[in-house]
This record gives sequence, structure tokens and C-alpha cells, in this order.
Amino acid sequence: MTKSMHSAQLESIRYDPRGTFIDGSGISSEAISQLAPRLEEARAETLRDLEVWKSGGTVPHDKRPLDAGFIDLPERILTEYREQQETSELRQILATADRLREQVDRVVVLGIGGSYMGARALMEACCHPYHNHLSRAQRGSRPRVYFSGNNVDNDATQGLLDLLTENVSDTVKDRWAIAVISKSGGTLESAVALRQYLAALRKITGDNDELVRDLVIPVTGGHGKLYDLADALGCRSVFRVPDGVGGRFSILSVVGLLPAAILGLDVIRLLEGAVDLNERFQNAPVGENPVLDYVAVSHLMETQRGALTRILSVWSQGLEAAGLWYDQLLAESLGKAERGALPLTVVNTRDLHSRGQQHQEGRRDKLITNLVVGSYRRDPLFVGQQPFDQDQLNELADKSLSDIMCAAIQGTNQAYHDDGRSTANLYLPRQDEATLGQLFQMLMLATVVEGRLVGINPYGQPGVEAYKRNMNAILRERGT
Ligand code: PA5
Repeated sequence: MTKSMHSAQLESIRYDPRGTFIDGSGISSEAISQLAPRLEEARAETLRDLEVWKSGGTVPHDKRPLDAGFIDLPERILTEYREQQETSELRQILATADRLREQVDRVVVLGIGGSYMGARALMEACCHPYHNHLSRAQRGSRPRVYFSGNNVDNDATQGLLDLLTENVSDTVKDRWAIAVISKSGGTLESAVALRQYLAALRKITGDNDELVRDLVIPVTGGHGKLYDLADALGCRSVFRVPDGVGGRFSILSVVGLLPAAILGLDVIRLLEGAVDLNERFQNAPVGENPVLDYVAVSHLMETQRGALTRILSVWSQGLEAAGLWYDQLLAESLGKAERGALPLTVVNTRDLHSRGQQHQEGRRDKLITNLVVGSYRRDPLFVGQQPFDQDQLNELADKSLSDIMCAAIQGTNQAYHDDGRSTANLYLPRQDEATLGQLFQMLMLATVVEGRLVGINPYGQPGVEAYKRNMNAILRERGT
């Protein structure tokens, strides 16, 4: 990887493991230091894998599949953008997003697993929390975005079709487009959904092929059923999921970038964040390296303290989908060979009232990582004085919601700590594209490094094939 010539000043995310340094029930900084040589070797292996993948040479059997292409993808995309401008993929993504903004008011993103969770995480983290409810003017003409094709739920699908087909005038406010994302191009859930949404679109447009060509944007691999369908439809903009990038590692490829650009997010900053994190990953020593430190704590807590459940405790509602994205990343990458920790995302303070009891007093099999945002996008909202003080909140009148959140974080950590329960903190200076780019890249790298550390291939998901085989056999052979 080349050193960054891209990034303007970035505030770095920070990982603080000190809340896990507990005598008797946690780990120690000495244990991390002892693990350092193995962590460094796992990092070196991860980077060697990238070189093997880039060389296009034969991948050794025990390394297959090897989807290391995600690692330097942010650098490659930005470099191509800066050197080739108009013909670069990123320029085309941005141009398509601009075109859609002028043509439609809604975009349905079809995809499942790694082909949609990243886009949803980006939308929830970086857009107005009620983006889809805002007027077009309030949204700056950015389309509403809906996710579908991530299930085969009869009522959910028809519910969205109801919305999309309610008004059918040929004006921007009623027009909608489909971005269908599937690397293999053959995933049943998204393929069935495409058929249904495409049928609705054709009907609304009066089978206007020209318009359909404009309004269906496929994102897929270099061949496959979706690729063929895109060709048959003559779609105007078709994007290619890059080779060597697996679904759950594709958030910083066109898979996440296209929906993000449609939503008007700053995709350059997102990529710059990831580039910045790559540099830290490559160069910083254990103790100052968020990826290696996070892996060290997770691994030591699992092997020394039986912490088989990894809780990502997000202290911001907008980060819930980022947590769910990470749940998939960890579960599908390391949940193999009867191993792998169980990921769980909680949103606090909400889930303190549902899962908090168990985390405080249940089995000692958990590592909690707090995901904490430093500053909010909006000005503080205060509790405020009221003439009726039956709730006795006037004494807190000058406290803001962020003050209450800070007290909750501190109070919860203290309660866990007082009972010998480990927590680590992952600080995001703010909740924006540059920070999210760092976070996603950090967690993808950490997952791969941990896989290499413990001898599990983090790429591929052979176990998911079993259900697909059975489902297809049931549907096609038995005719149910
Ligand atoms: O991480 C993965 O590779 C999977 O979760 C895939 O993203 C998911 O199965 C969807 O696959 P596809 O994009 O081929 O439709």
C-alpha cells in the first residue's frame, strides 16, 4: 500500500482497552505485550495475503478463498479517481447518483447480507435519522432510500410496493429507481425481489424500456444471472463488484459507495478515513494500533476468560446498523469449524432496559466494547425548566441529553467494573463519513487478523450454502 497522499486532516478513532485490565477476571497489559509477536505475524500474514492476491498468482490451497482485495481498495479507488477523473469508477458512481437525484425521489436498494448491510449502516449513521420522512427540499433533493430483497417476507415486500405504486404520475416526486446489488447475481432473495419490483416499475412506466434502462442500476460480478439480465435490459449504468472483495468486506466498494452517493454522503471522506486507518494498521506498534489492540483484547478475553460473547455496545442510535453490519462480519468470517465468538449489538441506553440485567449479573462470558461518539452533529438539547415539577427534573434543567448520555456511559462502566466485568472503549470523535470509514476498515482488518491469529480462514462462508441448497431443492424438485 502506498502512503496516503490523499487525506486532509482527520480526527482519529481511538481504542482504549484499560477497562479490561482487571485482576482476576480480566486481562493485563503484560498479556497483550506477550501476544505482540503473534499479532505482528498475523498482521504481516494479512499484508502478505494482499500481495499474493494482487500478484494474480496461484493461491495456496489452505488460503482459499482469499478475498484480500478489500484491504487497499480505498487507496486504489481514490488514486484512480484523482488520476483518471471522468473515467474513474468513483466519478461514474457520483455521476449516476447525480442523475438519479434529478430523475427520481425514491431508490429501492435490493440486496442481502454483505450486499446491503453496509449501505444501511452508512445511511443510518450519516443521514438525518428521519431522512425518508423529510420533504424533498429538506433532503436537498436526495432520494429516499428503502432496503428490500433482504428477506422473502410477503407483507414487507407488498408494503413497500404499496408505497411505490400509490401515485404513478410521471413526475420526479413519484418516480423511483432500483439499485440491485448481488455479487454472485444469483442470490434467490434479491433475484425474486428484483423480479417483483421490476414488474411494478414496468407497469408504472407503461413498459417504457428507455426509462427502465435508466432506472435499474445493477451492481454485480463480471458474470452471472444478474449480469445477463442487466445486459438484456440494456441498463444504462451497470457497476462491477470488484474481484477479490467478499460481500461483507465490500462496504467501501461500489456496493456501499453507490447507495452512499445516492444519499449525498461524502464518499471521498469515507475512503480517506479508511486510508488513514490502513496506515495506522501497517505502521503503529501494538499498544498504539487500534486493530492489533482490539484483536489482542478480544482474543485474550476469549481464551483466558471464556468471553465467548462479544457485545458491541453502541451509545448512539444511528450506529445500530453499523453494529449489525459488524455482527455479520464477525459471525460469517470466524464462525467456522465449531469456533468463533458470538457477536451481539446493543443500543444504549435503550437496551440497558432489556439486556442490561444479564450483562450486569449474568454469566461471566462477555466482553463489552463501548462504541462512544465524542460530539453530536446537533446543538445540545436541554432538559429545561417547567412550571410543573412533579417529575422533579427542574434540578436537571441545565443538563443536556449528551450530559445524561455521558453519565449513563460512565455509570454503566463503573457498575460493570465494580463487579469485575470487563469493558473496552472505542471512541469515534464524531459520527461522520471520515470516522465511519476508519471504523469499518478497522473492524474488517481486525476480523481478518484474528482469523489469521487463530488459524481460521476469515474469507468465504461455506456454511451458508447448506440452507441455499435445501431451499432450492425444496422449491424446484418438490414443487412446494
Ligand atoms: O458476506 C458475504 O459474502 C455474503 O453475506 C453475501 O454478501 C450475501 O450472501 C449476498 O451475496 P450476493 O451479493 O452474491 O447476492
